[in-house]
Amino acid sequence: MPKQYRIGIMGATGAVGSIMLRILEERDFPVAELRPLASVRSAGKLLKFRGEEVKIRELTEDSFKGLDIVLASAGASISKKYVPHAVEAGATVIDNTSAFRMEPGVPLVIPEVNAEDIFKHKGIIANPNCSTIIMLVPLKPLHDVARIQRIVVSTYQAVSGTGSQAITELEDQVKQFVSGEPIKHEVYPYQIAFNVLPHIDTFQDNGYTREEMKMLNETRKMLHDDSIQVSATAIRVPVFTSHSESLQIETEKKLTAQQARELLESAPGVKVVDDPANLKYPMPLDTSGQDLVFAGRIREDISHAHGLALWVAGDQLRKGAATNAVQIAEILIRGK
Ligand SMILES: NC(=O)c1ccc[n+]([C@@H]2O[C@H](COP(=O)([O-])OP(=O)(O)OC[C@H]3O[C@@H](n4cnc5c(N)ncnc54)[C@H](OP(=O)(O)O)[C@@H]3O)[C@@H](O)[C@H]2O)c1
Repeated sequence: MPKQYRIGIMGATGAVGSIMLRILEERDFPVAELRPLASVRSAGKLLKFRGEEVKIRELTEDSFKGLDIVLASAGASISKKYVPHAVEAGATVIDNTSAFRMEPGVPLVIPEVNAEDIFKHKGIIANPNCSTIIMLVPLKPLHDVARIQRIVVSTYQAVSGTGSQAITELEDQVKQFVSGEPIKHEVYPYQIAFNVLPHIDTFQDNGYTREEMKMLNETRKMLHDDSIQVSATAIRVPVFTSHSESLQIETEKKLTAQQARELLESAPGVKVVDDPANLKYPMPLDTSGQDLVFAGRIREDISHAHGLALWVAGDQLRKGAATNAVQIAEILIRGK
């Protein structure tokens, strides 16, 4: 019988953690034991995994004994505190937070982009930011052929990217609007229903937000290319699930729209939805609940000789987080 693995999930009750459980089930990951870990608020409650009820345990420094793999998704400060204990206990951690992504000894991995980096790990493998994943899955095949020198990206990010409280906030605000009640907000600095916020994460001295700078720094790390330029504007939109992104790229070698479309049609993890004449293009309602990044509106940029423009969308809870982490775990257990 193939080896079965003991898996811990830090943040098992969260927006990403709960999808992690579903992805392990869907992909039939060889799980011998599933240990859901969350805060004291959830300890003792039950979760369903493969039709059976599993008790949630409070996350403590001693939570990791006997675990082979830990999927961490409880926030960066929680990862900073507990992941070293998981590694100490002998587990390999796939960390979904920003805590270790830019540390030199920690591979940052999208399997379709740099799977080979997985085996350089020393106990921790980092899962990239969701917007970076959704951007790079379709850009990697173009980069391999034409070398991307510059990316200008605007994101249209769903509220579930902020976590489960933000999903509730958008639902509540829609109900308050419909019933004519005053609209309350706590998670975001302003109302998100029927609005758009040009602000994700904290502002830096250079005027960009941390989220926007992650898209530059993580891209450079995964492509092993510090010369690539990325200018991002990260926008929160009143969509429940799936991030969309407008991408403008400049390449060293010219790519026609047709060449780019053909490269994307055979690229792993990508589905081309690009038939504007028949109103076919990627939309977050269509990408939610599945694992491919949809790419469309592919066209040559009329403002730049070596420029291409495209529009992509993908489920950031799945490919942007949980699926990517489980794919890394699958490669890890399969070995080089
Ligand atoms: N949402 C996304 O699309 C996305 C994508 C990529 C990466 N990420 C990253 O993934 C992480 C989790 O995001 P999320 O959206 O899933 O957040 P979330 O919905 O707010 O869930 C947070 C999870 O962490 C647990 N938690 C919070 N404080 C804890 C504590 N002190 N001790 C133990 N567990 C604690 C919560 O448990 P309780 O239920 O007990 O409070 C819950 O399970 C974040 O670092 C986020 O940046 C999120």
